[in-house]
Amino acid sequence: MQRLTNRQIVLGITGGIAAYKSAELTRILKGAGADVRVVMTAAATEFITPLTMQALSGHQVHQHLLDPEAEAGMGHIELAKWADMVLIAPASADFMARLDNGHGNDLLTTICLATEAPIVLAPAMNQAMWRDPQTQANARSLQQKNIRLLGPGVGEQACGDTGPGRMLEPTQIAQQAADLFDLGLLCGKRVFITAGPTREALDPVRYISNHSSGKMGYALAEAAIDAGAQVTLISGPVNLPAPQRCEVIRVESAEQMLDASLQNISQCDIFIASAAVADYRPVSIAEHKMKKGNEEIMELHLVKNPDIVATVAGLERKPFTVGFAAETQNVVTYAQGKLVRKNLDLIIANDVSRSDIGFNSDDNAVTVVSRHHVKPLPLSSKRQLAGQLIEMIASQYETAEE
Ligand code: PMT
Repeated sequence: MQRLTNRQIVLGITGGIAAYKSAELTRILKGAGADVRVVMTAAATEFITPLTMQALSGHQVHQHLLDPEAEAGMGHIELAKWADMVLIAPASADFMARLDNGHGNDLLTTICLATEAPIVLAPAMNQAMWRDPQTQANARSLQQKNIRLLGPGVGEQACGDTGPGRMLEPTQIAQQAADLFDLGLLCGKRVFITAGPTREALDPVRYISNHSSGKMGYALAEAAIDAGAQVTLISGPVNLPAPQRCEVIRVESAEQMLDASLQNISQCDIFIASAAVADYRPVSIAEHKMKKGNEEIMELHLVKNPDIVATVAGLERKPFTVGFAAETQNVVTYAQGKLVRKNLDLIIANDVSRSDIGFNSDDNAVTVVSRHHVKPLPLSSKRQLAGQLIEMIASQYETAEE
């Protein structure tokens, strides 16, 4: 079920005794790495409580269309846009009829109307209701509209009847839903990314740092998540929102960034060092704010910081390790030197002498350097570039693993 990693699933629950199985389904989807937001119809809440579903999904359950508080949080249009899939399990005969007729008189039908994500139903009802010609016509019509039906299964029913109409088991639903997603390039891989600057404290109010905004690293994290990876973003202080579906470890100094990078490093498949780490830090941090003296020149004593990416690349079982090289001259040649010196698998050379790319800009242009190839990637947004970089990293990683 690796295809479920990082997928955003709206799980719709309609009124039926099989609703109790939606609790297990939520657990399985979450366990497979999906983020699940539950939407319940009024009838569904007669069978299973929103509190149960909230506890299992880890999010507030959405129930009402005209609830200003809920709409102010994540409204129905946002939910519809957020979803990679709208999965309705159980889907009652009534819900199927309303969906087929394009109703939008409750939250779940409205989300179905508004979403561009695939809609998948796991029908569940009494066998006579399922066999009813109108339900059969609705099922056919829904399928013609590209709505997928999973099941129903055949067997003993809660009402004592036997026949078709049983909801599939939660594991079957989760597996079949997973099969509808493409396998991402980095599906199931663990990727650690360092991003942003480090701050090296001089005293309680001053520090040495640089102009890195974190935009390149955060864009790489988003692209890796979209490619199906489980991402840990180790971030210096930046003003960017944390990407969703990603673990973010916030740090200040290079030493903290090293500690965070080495935590669980044995589980890391690909390490990408995009952070602008301070090469030196003050030898000591003054306990109190340093006072201005009479001298015109002040001397600072600095000590070398640990090299994070070189430490990772020097591990006995090192992950596939990718560095960046921020250079103002001889960009490719210097990058090639760092590739070899730091024992990297790949390095991304960044000309930071230009003000339109590199530090703190929305765009970038880089050259990807491996031991055998040099490939320039022209100017584009950091988001677009991150997608291209992740594709190249995934392909080089795969070659290295073979
Ligand atoms: O954050 P943005 O504003 O989006 O800007 C993006 C960027 C310009 C910061 C980014 O694209 C970039 O070039 N990052 C690397 C910056 C850098 O510190 O380069 P460097 O040539 O000094 O370091 C080489 C490599 O060693 C880098 O991967 C760096 O993360 C790593 N390093 C350096 C020093 C150190 N003590 N530990 C390290 O891991």
